[in-house]
Amino acid sequence: MLVTGKNISFTYDFGGAAFALQDVDITIAQGEFVAILGCNGSGKSTLVKHFNALLQLQQGALKVAQIDVGNTEEIWLLRRLCGMVFQNPDNQFVSSVVEEDIAFGLENYEVPRGEFPARVRSALALVEMDGYEKRAPNSLSGGQKQRVALAGVLALEPEIIIFDEATAMLDPSGRQEVVKIMHKLHKTGKTIIAITHYVEETVAADKIILMHQGRVLACGHPRAILTDLDLMKKAELIPPLPVRLYYDLQQAGVNLSNCPLTNEEFVEAICQFRSKT
Ligand SMILES: Nc1ncnc2c1ncn2[C@@H]1O[C@H](COP(=O)(O)OP(=O)(O)OP(=O)(O)O)[C@@H](O)[C@H]1O
Ligand SMILES: [Mg+2]
Repeated sequence: MLVTGKNISFTYDFGGAAFALQDVDITIAQGEFVAILGCNGSGKSTLVKHFNALLQLQQGALKVAQIDVGNTEEIWLLRRLCGMVFQNPDNQFVSSVVEEDIAFGLENYEVPRGEFPARVRSALALVEMDGYEKRAPNSLSGGQKQRVALAGVLALEPEIIIFDEATAMLDPSGRQEVVKIMHKLHKTGKTIIAITHYVEETVAADKIILMHQGRVLACGHPRAILTDLDLMKKAELIPPLPVRLYYDLQQAGVNLSNCPLTNEEFVEAICQFRSKT
């Protein structure tokens, strides 16, 4: 397992009663695409900030890429292996030139200078931003900024990439661009951890970790999680539209054979129903 966590509990007010995480167990395999889904304040960011030691473990055990996150000697290696992209693209730049911004991260992690040009070029190519080397980050669209921020992480050649609501501030097309790149990176073998409260973005994940009030409420395949109305209600989330339509149709006496997760599956289920009747 690439990530193994056991009995992780955390309070921001150390020793206080309000747990931001309580008894969280988690496993993530190499190459998995995991969505962490949960309503506001459910503990998603707090959990992943433990993965690269942005927050210190208070209780429990956590290993990421064979590294014990409490081992301060390995912290830089851990942060290089486990890259993170955050919500607001504007807060992630330190330079006014794209290539310098990416190189800054390489410098921090003591990558040999001779490798900079090739690493910058290939990272920008991966996020489909070739040719933007000389641009100012603040002259880019939200989606493009987020992709450049991601290139900065990719240049460090991480094993795991965590997207903490990296699409939340983007318009639908910017969101799609970033989601498409997440899946492309997954296909190249990267382990992807995508935090979101857009249920639609979790449909294609290998696994969903559903969080609520600092606990893992459920963990499983998107189909098992997203079509379970009681579970979604407990998590204070609204299931994807095709799932809601499936149950609404059922109430109206129309029984589709399978509960669809995507619009395409919904159309297919309706066509099947029509051909049967
Ligand atoms: N820096 C902080 N200081 C004190 N409490 C915090 C801090 N950050 C988060 N919390 C609290 O910890 C709990 C979990 O918050 P967290 O940010 O992990 O949730 P989240 O699932 O990422 O939410 P969101 O969807 O809003 O990003 C919440 O009750 C929150 O108020
Ligand atoms: Mg958060």
